Amino acid sequence: MWRGVIETYRPYLPVSSKTPIVTLLEGNTPLIHSQALSKRVGRHVDVYLKYEGMNPTGSFKDRGMTLAISKALESKSDAVLCASTGNTSASASAYAARAGLRSIVLIPSGAIALGKLSQALIHGARIASVEANFDACLALVKSLAQMHPVTLVNSINPHRIEGQKTCAFEICDALGRAPDFHITPVGNAGNITAQWKGYQEYYRRGHIRRLPVMVGFQAEGAAPLVKGNIITHPRTIATAIRIGNPASWQGAIAAREESHGLIQTVRDKEILEAYRLLAMEDGVFVEPASAASVAGLLKLSRSGYFHSKRIRAKRTLSIVCILTGHGLKDPERAIKSIRLPKPLPPSLSAISKAVGLLRRSSVSSRGTS
Ligand code: F0G
Repeated sequence: MWRGVIETYRPYLPVSSKTPIVTLLEGNTPLIHSQALSKRVGRHVDVYLKYEGMNPTGSFKDRGMTLAISKALESKSDAVLCASTGNTSASASAYAARAGLRSIVLIPSGAIALGKLSQALIHGARIASVEANFDACLALVKSLAQMHPVTLVNSINPHRIEGQKTCAFEICDALGRAPDFHITPVGNAGNITAQWKGYQEYYRRGHIRRLPVMVGFQAEGAAPLVKGNIITHPRTIATAIRIGNPASWQGAIAAREESHGLIQTVRDKEILEAYRLLAMEDGVFVEPASAASVAGLLKLSRSGYFHSKRIRAKRTLSIVCILTGHGLKDPERAIKSIRLPKPLPPSLSAISKAVGLLRRSSVSSRGTS
């Protein structure tokens, strides 16, 4: 039976026999081979999707939160605090509820997806909806954490990074090696930092013989790491990564430099195209921010990046795209991007016409004509 990321990777994590383990059995998410994307990228390339939306609260945050909340409990904290574009708050409030801790979350007012807000509400978080963006909310929680006896569970809490590195472990365990390329959306940059740390640790312990090339994608209107400066008013439809001053800036740059990787931008239009493509061709529903990795994959593929790498490698390349959050987090976006069906009378002919079902006789007469 799967026992969650702490029990599974205990020797790699800062826990002891005294740590009370708070888990919802996160991790062990599917690594799905995508025939559709492999075909689009080209011959001798295998594209895999690490579907992190399948974690208990619907995003990768649970990997870090199981550890952050367990350690908060161990240190006798009675409340946890975070700023969030939605997923961190959903995860923090669920794990805090399980641990019997209070959770306090600051969210940018009107800028988080409905599903995520409903999670924080139902898990009983005290929510401050602040008239400011995520970066300002993060600055506020840092000050609050200095003034009050609460544990900050944003990814500046090192336990979050420790937990999130298990995503890299799982990918290596599933493939039997590291992928050639690891592609991930980047917002506050904790995740790319954690994933790189995970690969490096597996490498140092001799579990893998090669390290992957780390590739991050930011939304074009919220790309401080690509532009090289803080973005005061970040803009993108991908609200989860609408961040202008990432906390793990240095970690992301180190991952890029040390792995000879890239951090680039994708446009909102490209993100939405990848979002629809994943749903329509792979049957995988993600939230828009998550589709940034696949949008980036397709952008790099069009530029010939993988083709030249493959020629040099003289073998099939493996690429893993991280799909960070579930599509049901943001149903409004799905509904906005596809036309809603009009209500119909309960009539066979009206329904058949509307859904494109031809009558048998007309199908066979067409077939024989
Ligand atoms: N994808 C999703 C779905 C996210 O929720 C986030 C971050 C990211 C990607 C980027 O990860 O910040 O580690 O670079 N969401 C945070 C939150 C900021 O508050 O839920 P990152």
